[in-house]
Amino acid sequence: MNKLRVLLVEDEADQRQLVALLLQQAGYIVQSCASAEEALNRLEVDRVDVVLSDWKLPGISGADLLSRVREQNWPVAFVMVTAYGSIERAVEAIRQGADDYITKPFEREQLLLCLQKALKTRNLANENQRLTQALDQRERLVDLIGKSPGMQRVFRTIEKIAQTDATVLISGESGTGKELTARAIHSLSKRKSGAFMAINCAAIPEGLIESEFFGAERGAFTGADRTRAGTFEAANQGTLFLDEIGELPLPIQPKLLRALQDQQITRVGGTRSFAVDVRIIAATNRDLDREVHQGRFREDLFYRLNVVRLNLPALRDRREDIPVLAQHLLSEMAQKHGLPAPVLPKSVLRALVDYHWPGNVRELANSVERMVLFAEEGVVQMADLPQAPVHASAQPFLIPNHGMNWEDHERECLRQALDRCHGNRSKAARLLGLPYKAFLYRLEKYQLAEEIPK
Ligand SMILES: Nc1ncnc2c1ncn2[C@@H]1O[C@H](COP(=O)(O)OP(=O)(O)OP(=O)(O)O)[C@@H](O)[C@H]1O
Ligand SMILES: [Mg+2]
Repeated sequence: MNKLRVLLVEDEADQRQLVALLLQQAGYIVQSCASAEEALNRLEVDRVDVVLSDWKLPGISGADLLSRVREQNWPVAFVMVTAYGSIERAVEAIRQGADDYITKPFEREQLLLCLQKALKTRNLANENQRLTQALDQRERLVDLIGKSPGMQRVFRTIEKIAQTDATVLISGESGTGKELTARAIHSLSKRKSGAFMAINCAAIPEGLIESEFFGAERGAFTGADRTRAGTFEAANQGTLFLDEIGELPLPIQPKLLRALQDQQITRVGGTRSFAVDVRIIAATNRDLDREVHQGRFREDLFYRLNVVRLNLPALRDRREDIPVLAQHLLSEMAQKHGLPAPVLPKSVLRALVDYHWPGNVRELANSVERMVLFAEEGVVQMADLPQAPVHASAQPFLIPNHGMNWEDHERECLRQALDRCHGNRSKAARLLGLPYKAFLYRLEKYQLAEEIPK
């Protein structure tokens, strides 16, 4: 069996030797340090299973050592040694993440038992963390939520390319999470400590785009009273997000292409070009391939941008993501407004899943925000879904791309109508525009008549 490794931190030489000997005899591999500084250096490079540290040390204290160990998320157990009569310190240590404590002076058996216990506690904690991470990995990447195959594909691609400097082109309908995806790539990249600069190509007047991108020398045009850096410069060593790239006017496209090819820019009115180190992520909700075809977007620029393509699926094409997204947004919005997260009844959730979300996740986020604000007695109300199926006639019903099951749909309509009318059948029939008899007939057909009280 692998021997367990103890890192012993004790400034008194006699005590240190004594404890080290005792632990070696018990079968541990022991490394001894006289200070927390030395211990931190060891922890950086060596495998350690448990740290046994005195509270009182010269320089960095045992408590500070503990908090650094936990900050680094090192998976080691930690036992704090405190002096007799200082129980508050022991309690404090446990609160800060120690797995156990022991008071000086201690017996051999007492120490061994304490180490065993601490190791066991830590193993459990590590296992928990591993499981949570595994779960997180399935449904979440940075701030992106989604368990549908479509989103999982997006996650895998992001993980593969985030660490590279590859240019990424993100496409997807409005509100599908293009900007959030760009931010996720940046935060998983080597550039994460650099800036993330976003520029919306649709929001800048054509005449100003070049200086926004590349900056302008003093006197370059009227009003340029000082030299100004552009977004490329500001994003140096970071990531530049070119949003709505499909809206970039044709005349400016060759200039952008040149900057991307040469990784060099020249300020407007300047003569000198200089190097910039930026990673480019572009996004569009237009069909860029078609724009190229129709001559509205330069083919060479398109190929320069389209190195890695990420296509974010519309929310209606990944309905299995709606429940997780709704729950996530519910707690986010509750936190934003300092309100408790309301309960989301199944009937409301079903309505959310059924709705076709033309505005995608952004629209869902807005709906959920209203739900949080207008919840009654901690429960989300059906009427809090202004555009949802309550007013379904205003929204055209779309057959999903993958087809549908008519009977399931009919059963669902009946169920929802009953739900909404609190089981009142004549009201439910009216809601569906059905004669009462026809409604009853269908309830029988789907055996819903017994389910719901009159
Ligand atoms: N997968 C997701 N998980 C969690 N939140 C999401 C997800 N996708 C989008 N959102 C949220 O939805 C909102 C819209 O996202 P974002 O701004 O990234 O979309 P977009 O595609 O850039 O939209 P537009 O084309 O309108 O600019 C944001 O509040 C974002 O946090
Ligand atoms: Mg956007």
